[in-house]
Amino acid sequence: MNRIKSGIGGFDTLIEGGLPEGRSFLVSGGTGTGKTIFATQFIVNGAQDGEPGIYLTLDERPELIREDMLRFGWNIRQLEDEGKIQIIDGTIAKVGIPSDEEFSLPATGFDLDKVLLELMRAIKKIKAKRVVIDSIPALGMNFENEHDVRKAVLKMVYLLSRAGVTTLLTTETSEGSKQFGKYGVEEFVSDGVIVLHYMGIGTQSNRTLHIRKMRATKHSEDLHPIEINEQGINIHKVEEDYDV
Ligand SMILES: Nc1ncnc2c1ncn2[C@@H]1O[C@H](COP(=O)(O)OP(=O)(O)OP(=O)(O)O)[C@@H](O)[C@H]1O
Ligand SMILES: [Mg+2]
Repeated sequence: MNRIKSGIGGFDTLIEGGLPEGRSFLVSGGTGTGKTIFATQFIVNGAQDGEPGIYLTLDERPELIREDMLRFGWNIRQLEDEGKIQIIDGTIAKVGIPSDEEFSLPATGFDLDKVLLELMRAIKKIKAKRVVIDSIPALGMNFENEHDVRKAVLKMVYLLSRAGVTTLLTTETSEGSKQFGKYGVEEFVSDGVIVLHYMGIGTQSNRTLHIRKMRATKHSEDLHPIEINEQGINIHKVEEDYDV
């Protein structure tokens, strides 16, 4: 099995060297746990490593992502100019105002088939190997009921797997919840679930990651301390934190 290097420091060693190629994975966690940073790091590292990537953003406007991610030294605009990253603006559906992005949705309303068409067009254009969907709850806002959201996610994951790309889908959970996605179904369509936690303990904040599921992989079952710094997300081995 071919494995895709995530680009997240310390992560690939926890999953036998990388993410199984051509599959879909869920990055799950509460608000501010680092899902968007994790997903962007995956795309930027791929882009720098000969694996172009698509970022479908339904949550944050592309301009803000480009700006925020500069903090980590990731020049998305430049990688876009080099044809290594393509952002698709799916936020339009949320506010109903036209986008000036090359890849975007019509202001007339949300249309799943149009989203999928734009995704496939973008994949073809830059020969993408990686895709990020950020986020499922934001996608879900465009549907009347959970059944339709599930159908939409299933269709999307099916098409992405047919296109042979490796995909991260972000989704939101509340801390302590047993579900890994807001709709309680995303985990069934994903080949793996990565969970990010953020807990304040006393005056200290505490970020951790654990791998809830990774098909075809002997993965770590520990709760790993993680850190967000100038380089993005970095994962520590459990022992490191107890080292003197
Ligand atoms: N340069 C930085 N150094 C350290 N921590 C940072 C830095 N930039 C952002 N963070 C942390 O990362 C968090 C944002 O991460 P991110 O946007 O990936 O979260 P998210 O899980 O996608 O949240 P949301 O649910 O809002 O989409 C911030 O709230 C902050 O705690
Ligand atoms: Mg986010």
